Amino acid sequence: MNWNVWIRQIHRWLSIVFTVTVIANFVAMALGEPPAWVVYSPLLPLFLLLFTGLYMFMLPYIAKPRGRPADAMK
Ligand code: HEM
Repeated sequence: MNWNVWIRQIHRWLSIVFTVTVIANFVAMALGEPPAWVVYSPLLPLFLLLFTGLYMFMLPYIAKPRGRPADAMK
């Protein structure tokens, strides 16, 4: 597995972690005043999603053109 595939897998699984922390916030708020650690828990996965997501966003622009026939590049 190359580096880009790892970044995509990390982003993919972080999205689940992030979703769980958001749901935990709804549940905690339904039960009363949520503790601060629950309120702030989505921020770390969201922060990591931002960087892995921006990395993936840039990939098509920084990729070296290869494996394409010469006339497809025109
Ligand atoms: C915080 C800023 C975020 C940025 C900049 C970002 C950016 C991206 C980019 C560029 C891709 C690749 C799209 C492609 O295939 O061309 C992607 C895929 C994806 N993103 Fe994000 N994303 C962010 C946050 C999130 C969040 C909050 C979630 C869900 C909770 C999420 C879930 C996903 C999933 C599931 C994929 C597909 C991964 C795969 O192909 O296996 N992302 N994102």
